Amino acid sequence: MSTHSSPIIVTSALPYANGPLHLGHLAGAYLTADFFVRYNRLKNEDILFICGSDEHGVPITIAAEKEGVSPQDIVDRYHEWNKETFKKMGISFDYYGRTSSSVHHNTSQEIFTELNLKGFFKVKSEELFYDESNQMFLPDRYVKGQCPNCGYGEAYGDQCEKCGNSINPTELIKPVSSLSGETPIRKETQHWYIPLGEMQNKLESWLKTRKDWKPNVMGQIKSWLQEGLNDRAATRDLNWGVPVPVEGADGKVLYVWFEAPIGYISATKEWAMQSNKPEAWKNYWKNDKARLYHFIGKDNIVFHCIMFPIILMEHGNLILPENVPANEFLNLEGKKLSTSRGWAVWLHDYLEHFECDYLRYALGVSLPESKDSDFSWKDFQNRVNNELVAVLGNFVNRASTFIEKYADSTVPPLVDPKPLDLEMLEAITIQKHKIERAYEHFRFREAVQEGMQLARLANKYFTDSEPWKTRKTNEIACFNSLHVSIQVVAALSVLMEPVLPESMMVLRRQIGLAESIKWTDISSSMLTTGQSLQHTTLLFKKIEDASIQLELDKLQNSLKDQSRELKVEYPILKKTIHFEDFKNLDLRVGVIKEVHDVPKSNKLLAFKIDIGIETRTILSGIKKHVDNNKLIGQKVTVVCNLESRKIMGIESKGMILMAESSDGSLYFVQSDAEEGSILS
Ligand code: 2FM
Ligand code: ZN
Repeated sequence: MSTHSSPIIVTSALPYANGPLHLGHLAGAYLTADFFVRYNRLKNEDILFICGSDEHGVPITIAAEKEGVSPQDIVDRYHEWNKETFKKMGISFDYYGRTSSSVHHNTSQEIFTELNLKGFFKVKSEELFYDESNQMFLPDRYVKGQCPNCGYGEAYGDQCEKCGNSINPTELIKPVSSLSGETPIRKETQHWYIPLGEMQNKLESWLKTRKDWKPNVMGQIKSWLQEGLNDRAATRDLNWGVPVPVEGADGKVLYVWFEAPIGYISATKEWAMQSNKPEAWKNYWKNDKARLYHFIGKDNIVFHCIMFPIILMEHGNLILPENVPANEFLNLEGKKLSTSRGWAVWLHDYLEHFECDYLRYALGVSLPESKDSDFSWKDFQNRVNNELVAVLGNFVNRASTFIEKYADSTVPPLVDPKPLDLEMLEAITIQKHKIERAYEHFRFREAVQEGMQLARLANKYFTDSEPWKTRKTNEIACFNSLHVSIQVVAALSVLMEPVLPESMMVLRRQIGLAESIKWTDISSSMLTTGQSLQHTTLLFKKIEDASIQLELDKLQNSLKDQSRELKVEYPILKKTIHFEDFKNLDLRVGVIKEVHDVPKSNKLLAFKIDIGIETRTILSGIKKHVDNNKLIGQKVTVVCNLESRKIMGIESKGMILMAESSDGSLYFVQSDAEEGSILS
């Protein structure tokens, strides 16, 4: 029996098969999708969960070049590896495809051809950078140069990682090819453009019909729309990818962001073929009643909420997303996660040391749902020890040990229950509804927390009803406590299944619940009086400090290894200035006298700095980089004659100079001279 008749298709962003998976992947597009899918499966919905490897695009060719192997070698290796890692992490895809498959090549070519025949694309000739020694047009990522915006010398042709601005490769100052190191020439080439600008009104009308989209997602979409959409090429001059299905387009492939989302459709087709019902994919993609949900990280919003919907709309006949519950980013130990800097936790490595459910839970309660969040190993340990072990595991253990010892390993009867017992039983339904509402509105943290809340209430109930006392004085009351407790255990084993699939499966087996149990079966009487129970094992184990320290050391070491390996590339020098320009700067040594938080800002600190002649208020966005307790008395360098600025209602007079190291940390520029000393 299904509560809704409409099929649901859930997709998680196809990860590039250019490296192993890490914590950021899991927290971005996979864990929440899996919670959602498992919840809906329990509700007996007709739901299909699709993902796969994104095997084209520059990220793959760059990885291949780095290792000196072919792109095919790279994708073959990581496709299998990532598929396996997801499985071990309990991510329950119905199908994990890959964009190098022939079904995908055909599907994306067909869609391109249909759009092309309709005259959808604008064919434009333009001059792009060409590397003469390698005889190829250079993808944006392969051109480096100086950022026209901030002067950073290592900006890529599509984006400056320093100031975050997106760039056109031809805007770079002193461009060089990262393949040959030579200055590329400009050469004429032809491309098929998606007329995003012309489609903007249509897209906006559709977006107005979207209900319940997360503010962080809609906010990002609106800012793209406000800037006005620019046409985007759907083709590239590359030899790795899906060939452009047009005569004379040799050496051109479909832009990876044109074809990768079509991978969701191709993978659904493959799933249908594999299930021996080749037409079944249409039930999800060509069915007005079907609901499509894309789970992604925030960097993919523009593609899933603007570009792909425009392609789907124009193609017609395929459904558009019902919702795109994108997550923000996950930081690691307070710093931006970075695979190139070695600041990452790899999932395959995690799985060698800990259970998958531990991470699912710890991440589940601190997901970057509406803003960036942080993962720390200490917090992980606390979540496991103080919540999984001490609350959920402890309760299950107390209830089942008592039943084993004092009720002959069978569910004892419930006779004349007292208000305390009835309240506990009612809490099952109350928490169930709260969890349902949370899942249905994509509030996954809340769903996880409300599940744990039931275990918390149950622990308190067990303590308050004191079965260890009543067993000697009032057997009926003791049995009532145990009956109620084991019913809560049964309910928890289903309520927590989306989050803790492995341990809840073990638990369900031990208490004798059928594998086919469904969400609607959750009640206060899931187990029958007299039913015998198996011995339950401890569900979770405490994590010792030493194991956490090992992980922290590993992280630090890989950071060191990477920095030894990576040659730090310094930005090229900014243009020469006149001595007069320098002399105009008034730089002085200051001493920090006071530091205050700036209300509503998680970046800014307000300093009072003594610069000799006076004490000034200066605001600086360095909160994340400094230890508040160590600031007073520190000497800093102040640009004293910078025009004052009002920031968040506070007037800031001057600037504190900071040096940025290659890992993005900021440091004061310090001097031993007394305050007020002039730098010259
Ligand atoms: O950002 C990424 O990792 C992309 N490979 C996601 C692609 S999602 C979809 F469009 F396929
Ligand atoms: Zn820049």
